[in-house]
Amino acid sequence: MKSVRIGSVGLGRLGYEHAKNLSMLLPGCTLHAVCDVDEERLRSVAEVLDIPHVYTDFAEMCTDPELDGVVIVSPSFLHVEQIRIAMEHGKHVFCEKPLGIDLAQCKEAEKVVEVHPELVFQLGFMRRFDPSYAEAKRRVDAGEIGKVVLVRSYTQDPRSTIESTLKFAPHSGGQFLDMCVHDLDLVRWFTGSNIKNVWGLGGVFEFDLYRELNDADNAAVMVQCDNGTMGFLFTNRTHAAGCNVETEIIGTRGTLRIAPVGTKDLLQIVDEHGARQEYYPDFMSRWHTAFLAEMQAFTDHIRNGTRPTDMTVYDGTAVSEAAYRCKESFETGKMLPIR
Ligand SMILES: NC(=O)c1ccc[n+]([C@@H]2O[C@H](COP(=O)([O-])OP(=O)(O)OC[C@H]3O[C@@H](n4cnc5c(N)ncnc54)[C@H](O)[C@@H]3O)[C@@H](O)[C@H]2O)c1
Repeated sequence: MKSVRIGSVGLGRLGYEHAKNLSMLLPGCTLHAVCDVDEERLRSVAEVLDIPHVYTDFAEMCTDPELDGVVIVSPSFLHVEQIRIAMEHGKHVFCEKPLGIDLAQCKEAEKVVEVHPELVFQLGFMRRFDPSYAEAKRRVDAGEIGKVVLVRSYTQDPRSTIESTLKFAPHSGGQFLDMCVHDLDLVRWFTGSNIKNVWGLGGVFEFDLYRELNDADNAAVMVQCDNGTMGFLFTNRTHAAGCNVETEIIGTRGTLRIAPVGTKDLLQIVDEHGARQEYYPDFMSRWHTAFLAEMQAFTDHIRNGTRPTDMTVYDGTAVSEAAYRCKESFETGKMLPIR
């Protein structure tokens, strides 16, 4: 089996996780090169993971003829430019969410992907690769809960990682684009419908930085889809017990509920506080299996000459656009249609 050679850009919180998976846990794939502007970080990651080639310049990494594909885990505002550079150098692309930080960037990404049908393009909406979410989708598609009526989804990062969250906040694109975009993707995926109207709500309940960024540290969204189905989303970064992501799909004949309590393992702790199970400590551990599965799918597509059938560049635009409208709605206090 030919080993697929990957170059990965961005070695921060998630970039390091993807780099570890690519270099140690995925059969049939070699992490050939890594790139980061932080030279100290770059050298130390390359040493720990034993990566032969290092770059501080992404365009230079893309000139390496040995590379088959790139994995983009850089700050969100860089994604589209890096997609363009990689594809112009003939590299397959996996890009983290969100696609772009404004509609113009998303449309530019669409054009780049359209002129390179010979290359794999995959976006990082990893929840679709999580076994519980994939099973829920299979049951929804099989009609087991009748017609989908409402998707309720919460995304809460733990307070224990708030320091890195606050550092990341200025280039995150904001709560709606950075966090709710996952839940907006789930609404489209489970309802099979485009989003028609959004009403973004929120406030600064604790961290003044979010006020400076014209953002909310706690945010919610009411969603109405083209086919009449509904969504209710909530996000914050200060969940007390760990990473909490829960999703409920309510249908006319039943309900599917994923991880009402995101337990890290099967261990039950009994002490003076009672009996409890611990949450996943962070998003990396919650989505470990999904991060691996999405990267396995990406490298398999490269090796087999196949293409992802969903989560296209157009889906990336659609969910990003919904997220931009949520932010506008939050700012104006009005429910807004998606253009
Ligand atoms: N799928 C998910 O659930 C998920 C979770 C976290 C982050 N993300 C996405 O992953 C991306 C990275 O997020 P993060 O939390 O790892 O960010 P981070 O800030 O922790 O890391 C970003 C890294 O990129 C490097 N970098 C900055 N500019 C660069 C450039 N021009 N060239 C090369 N490297 C550069 C930085 O030095 C840093 O090491 C974001 O787009 C984010 O939305 C997705």
